[in-house]
Amino acid sequence: MKEQLEKLKIEAMAALEAAADRAALEGVRVRFLGKKGEITAILKQMGGLSAKERPVIGQLANLVRADLEDAIEERDAVIEEKELADRLLNEALDVTIPGTTVLIGHRHPMSIVLDEAKDIFIGMGFSIAEGPEVELSVYDFDKLNIPVGHTVREWQDTFYITEDESVHLRCQTSPVQVRVMERTRPPIRIISPGRVYRKDDVDATHSPMFHQIEGLVVDKGITMGNLKGTLNALVKKLYGENTTTRFRPHHFPFTEPSCEVDVRCFSCGGSGCRVCKGEGWIELLGAGMVHPKVLAGCGIDSDIYSGFAFGVGLDRMTLLRYSIDDMRLLFENDMRFLRQF
Ligand code: DAH
Repeated sequence: MKEQLEKLKIEAMAALEAAADRAALEGVRVRFLGKKGEITAILKQMGGLSAKERPVIGQLANLVRADLEDAIEERDAVIEEKELADRLLNEALDVTIPGTTVLIGHRHPMSIVLDEAKDIFIGMGFSIAEGPEVELSVYDFDKLNIPVGHTVREWQDTFYITEDESVHLRCQTSPVQVRVMERTRPPIRIISPGRVYRKDDVDATHSPMFHQIEGLVVDKGITMGNLKGTLNALVKKLYGENTTTRFRPHHFPFTEPSCEVDVRCFSCGGSGCRVCKGEGWIELLGAGMVHPKVLAGCGIDSDIYSGFAFGVGLDRMTLLRYSIDDMRLLFENDMRFLRQF
């Protein structure tokens, strides 16, 4: 039994030496010192010993147990120290390492110009109206005095949702005029910015998706003079006090009379260049006095009320504002371009 105890001690010490962490250490303790442990098992056999042997073996067993307990305590301290050292090493914070830069985004050039335009119009007493991008052709065409078969429907070919072409992606923001006039009574003073769609191929001045800002004013005694004043105010605030405009007669089915408004070319100052295609002027928007038929269709008496309307291309407005010569830059999301604003 004496040999057994000594052998056990050697085994226990070896197991202790191998225990690398707290869990392994606890395993060793249970294996040798636990209630069902190996030393306990030996002590249980002591009944079979002679009266002379019993105290000797008992003393030896107690000694082995005490030694083992001490050794476990020592090993525990070593493991604890090592764990702490490991933790300190892993959690070390090196304050000299440069931090990761957080990229702060900013507005797209078109959003900048839109926000400016909104501010200008709100300053003149306008409010902002919204309309759907998936539109009924009744609103995009019929109620704007563009009946089935009208050639404008061909020029403004768009993307159709239904086969009978009664639902499509709106080709202009003008239907918002009708939606507003149907649900509000004059005085009306709104702008409505948004996306519009046309079946156009992409080039420097065209995109199948672009943006317009629609404007509508309806009240008693509104004249072409109000239209000119409002649009001149817009253009001068956006492009500078010295900006010159030109109002050219034109035709739109939903206005009478109608005009197009050009601004003098920012690039050549009017002598003609590549940007203005030799014209000296750059077309900015379409406008006119709301057609009496359109007013009547919305239940507004054209003998009492008159109004003006306009539709301006936000994309073109942005190109002009920043002297950008290719519309594709606005949609390509090239950060080298966008970071400049
Ligand atoms: N909707 C026209 C277009 O897309 C622009 C336009 C012209 C809007 C005259 C108007 C307007 O409100 O009165 O070409």
